[in-house]
Amino acid sequence: MRNLTPKQLAYRLSLLIAALITVLSSLLWMINYPLEWYLVVLTFLISFLTCYFIFLWGIRQFIDRKFRLIYKTIHNLKVGLKREPQKVDMSEDVFGRIRQEVIDWDKRNRKEIARLTDQEKFRREFLGNVSHELKTPIFSIQGYILTLLEGGLEDKKINRNFLLKAEKSINRMIEMVDDLDEISKLESNRMVLDIKRFDLLALTKEIIESLEYKAKKKKISLRMNTDQKNIFVKADPARISQVITNLLVNSINYGKEDGRTTVKFFDLDENVLVEVGDNGRGIEAEHLPRLFERFYRVDKGRSRSDGGSGLGLAIVKHIMEAHQQTINVRSKVGEGSVFSFTLEKA
Ligand SMILES: Nc1ncnc2c1ncn2[C@@H]1O[C@H](COP(=O)(O)OP(=O)(O)OP(=O)(O)O)[C@@H](O)[C@H]1O
Ligand SMILES: [Mg+2]
Repeated sequence: MRNLTPKQLAYRLSLLIAALITVLSSLLWMINYPLEWYLVVLTFLISFLTCYFIFLWGIRQFIDRKFRLIYKTIHNLKVGLKREPQKVDMSEDVFGRIRQEVIDWDKRNRKEIARLTDQEKFRREFLGNVSHELKTPIFSIQGYILTLLEGGLEDKKINRNFLLKAEKSINRMIEMVDDLDEISKLESNRMVLDIKRFDLLALTKEIIESLEYKAKKKKISLRMNTDQKNIFVKADPARISQVITNLLVNSINYGKEDGRTTVKFFDLDENVLVEVGDNGRGIEAEHLPRLFERFYRVDKGRSRSDGGSGLGLAIVKHIMEAHQQTINVRSKVGEGSVFSFTLEKA
């Protein structure tokens, strides 16, 4: 049901009261004098008009005070701020409008609260993860240094070895802090992409060469599968290099001995699809939806030397999103995994 406008309300109330006044005064008049019709009409008109204007004034005052307060509250304006709400139009449905505005405000607030609650939960988890991940290398560094202090320093057999181990843990920490720095930049959109035209095949070849040593240690062969000479794309070469590196390093870390990782390129109309496929241990389907989350690792109990802290794929995903492109994964346990992403052709 539509609400009455203030004018309609004043009109109806005045009509009612004017009618009452007219009837009562006519009855009183009739006790002593014969009824004069013009007096009846005059009484009605005067009382109607007086009531109408008084009501209109009263309602305006009421709305002005209440409406302004509600308006200021829901629009978060400071009391006394210059920006006043619009003038009240007495012939529109003011009450309905206030009601609608309050309902909208409530909806907006609920959404905002849900968003903030999510963010808060995420922040707590994130802090927990960061401190947990940093603890491992810090405790091992502490362990090595304590051993050295308690006599190990003089022991030729272990002193150098322990220092090297401590250095390895420090490098691990630096790597993690760099990754976190990268993620926070990507998430706050502070990462400005340096988009260029470059040859994706040349870049991939370079990365494969730089990882050859690491791959050889695990007896994994890295190769590129394409009959094209070059594929030019429009993207940030440094970031894309990081994407390919992270995917290749994963395929080495989680690959089988004597395994094989192949990078393939497919021509899609405006894009090129890149697939990094391995025949490694594979990933269970239940893990796939969460794989790109920060700190997500399939095997939580795995030793750190076998892999990292679960930031690599989160960074990859952020970089692809910054390029407004997508990344996907398909995998079968025991058979291997394929990570695929698209890039715009140039
Ligand atoms: N090619 C792959 N084969 C099997 N499992 C994989 C593969 N790539 C990633 N994973 C799984 O996904 C998890 C997340 O990978 P991600 O690269 O994000 O983290 P990480 O390798 O553990 O650490 P980081 O890359 O930060 O050093 C890995 O821990 C691993 O369990
Ligand atoms: Mg990784």
